[in-house]
Amino acid sequence: MVNHEEEEEDIVWLDGSFFINDNYQLTSFTFGSHVLQLYCLHSASTDFDLTGQLVWPGAMLLNDYLSKNAEMLQGCSMIELGSGVGITGMLCSRFCRQILLTDHNEEVLKILRRNIELNVSSENPSCCAALEAEKLEWGNSDQINRILHKYPGGFELILGADICFQQSSVPLLFDTVEQLLKNRGLGHCKFILAYVSRAKMMDLMVISEATRHGMLINEVAGTRSMVGNLEGVIFEITLC
Ligand SMILES: C[S@@+](CC[C@H](N)C(=O)[O-])C[C@H]1O[C@@H](n2cnc3c(N)ncnc32)[C@H](O)[C@@H]1O
Repeated sequence: MVNHEEEEEDIVWLDGSFFINDNYQLTSFTFGSHVLQLYCLHSASTDFDLTGQLVWPGAMLLNDYLSKNAEMLQGCSMIELGSGVGITGMLCSRFCRQILLTDHNEEVLKILRRNIELNVSSENPSCCAALEAEKLEWGNSDQINRILHKYPGGFELILGADICFQQSSVPLLFDTVEQLLKNRGLGHCKFILAYVSRAKMMDLMVISEATRHGMLINEVAGTRSMVGNLEGVIFEITLC
């Protein structure tokens, strides 16, 4: 006869937190004259959905580009898609007027909010922007509409670093970008994408999705470079 009490004793209950590495380390990054400090992991989790816990090569490429072209950030309102730990937002907070950092992953949003708190603390006088984080899953119109309701002026700049790596999410990413670009009208908003090439298929998909969504995609001259052992480039994307 089966003894149910003994069987239950053999079951080990593990909640979700058991599988999450949240041993974040305070880490310094330097871009030109800007030193940023934030919490992040130093190696990736095996969970594909937790990519945002660390700083990716695309963010290094984007921050390097922005630190050399900071005049484009001066006084503007910016939204970032797939912010991860928020390293790009931290740099932009020194120049922009208003910043919204977004991500779809709840665990990533937790560390993103912790980094925002660290960045806006009174010991950090270099942060001059209003800096916030919101959940945004690409293609989720309700979430986008809620954001646009909260920020009625929309955003002059949309930023994305290393966010094109999964084929199924790229069309949704461009749906979101289209909605944000259209909200500001022709010529009043641009999407700056730091793209890191890992597969030919994705290289082609980014171009074709931008075109399919009625956008003009231009490679910024002089930005094609090696980031580690991968090739990256900055694209400037606007409505046609
Ligand atoms: C490779 S990481 C890049 C993080 C950061 N931009 C960087 O370069 O360090 C991709 C980020 O996009 C977010 N992401 C992936 N799919 C998403 C989706 N469908 N909607 C919103 N965010 C997404 C992930 O949670 C993660 O933070």
